[in-house]
Amino acid sequence: MNPTILVTGGAGYIGAHACVTLIAAGFTPLVLDNLCNSSAESLRRVGRITGVEPRLIVADIRDAQALDALFAAQPVAAVMHFAGLKAVGESTRDPLRYHDNNVAGSIGLLQAMQRAAVRTLIFSSSATVYGEPGFEQFREDMRCDPVNPYGRGKWMIEQMLGDLAASEAGWRIAALRYFNPVGAHASGLIGEDPRGAPDNLMPAITQVAVGRLPKLRVFGGDWPTPDGSGVRDYIHVMDLAEGHVAALRHLLAHDPTLLTLNLGSGHGISVLQMLRAFEQVLGRALPCEIVARRPGDIAAYWADPTLAANVLGWRTQRDLHAMCRDAWRWQQANPRGYASA
Ligand SMILES: NC(=O)c1ccc[n+]([C@@H]2O[C@H](COP(=O)([O-])OP(=O)(O)OC[C@H]3O[C@@H](n4cnc5c(N)ncnc54)[C@H](O)[C@@H]3O)[C@@H](O)[C@H]2O)c1
Repeated sequence: MNPTILVTGGAGYIGAHACVTLIAAGFTPLVLDNLCNSSAESLRRVGRITGVEPRLIVADIRDAQALDALFAAQPVAAVMHFAGLKAVGESTRDPLRYHDNNVAGSIGLLQAMQRAAVRTLIFSSSATVYGEPGFEQFREDMRCDPVNPYGRGKWMIEQMLGDLAASEAGWRIAALRYFNPVGAHASGLIGEDPRGAPDNLMPAITQVAVGRLPKLRVFGGDWPTPDGSGVRDYIHVMDLAEGHVAALRHLLAHDPTLLTLNLGSGHGISVLQMLRAFEQVLGRALPCEIVARRPGDIAAYWADPTLAANVLGWRTQRDLHAMCRDAWRWQQANPRGYASA
């Protein structure tokens, strides 16, 4: 019997890709998602890719009864906890909604895990927990001082995980700090499908390419970086998903532990470099305009991925070209995302 892994938020962008890698690695994903930012179509597509459509329970992580029923109905070997709201700007406008969904939601999930004696967890954290440490390369032992409610929520949850692991024996926890996930499964069947205007660079680029947006707005051309645009560490979503399977295998095979790991490539790519790489894949230039910096953005950062390499034996495999090629394949085949189906 393949061990069952509860995947909260599994219908979303990263969660659906994680389901593909879990199935390929011999696990059975069981998805719990309230579909507030996703559609069940993503899981039907996972079924087309893998031959196994993950079971979906449409419920909220704040619904204790639904969680208790789920844990009572089958043995669960571990939880991958992706469910959360993720728009930084929105979190500054509506912090209570973010803390209720992300922080209180995580507390509810952890309490249900405790009641069910399921103590293996992989948590979606974020590079936003670091804030502005004054260094460009972020390492796990740096002081965290997030600068917005979204990042503060992730940091609160990480601290709570530390308290929990210290208070009760048996917890196996990995808090994975993602850098900037982009790209899509190479089939083009699943990918990033933001509702409303995209908040991130890659969906903005692909939506310009497909004609949904008139031009790309580049926020700031006067950053202290080689070409003046912001620099980030982009990671192919399939590399990220494989990092989760590596973390899961590690947790299941080792003594109880609390790991905090960066998942990034270790390389900084500028917005304009990303745009040029995408244009090469596309075979034409895209309209773009440099506009004012966005409040809260910083010039440049990227991951130090050494710890994840040493602990998990995992590192990124897919390059910038693959990120652009796969993102474009997805958007071209699904110009309106899953609603194109
Ligand atoms: N995409 C990124 O750039 C990025 C970077 C760092 C961290 N993360 C984190 O990774 C996780 C997954 O991100 P994603 O990009 O796949 O986002 P996503 O919005 O595509 O997926 C999140 C999923 O969680 C579900 N969800 C949200 N709140 C829920 C709740 N209360 N109960 C049940 N389901 C709920 C949504 O419907 C969605 O399917 C999030 O926790 C996010 O904060 C994302």
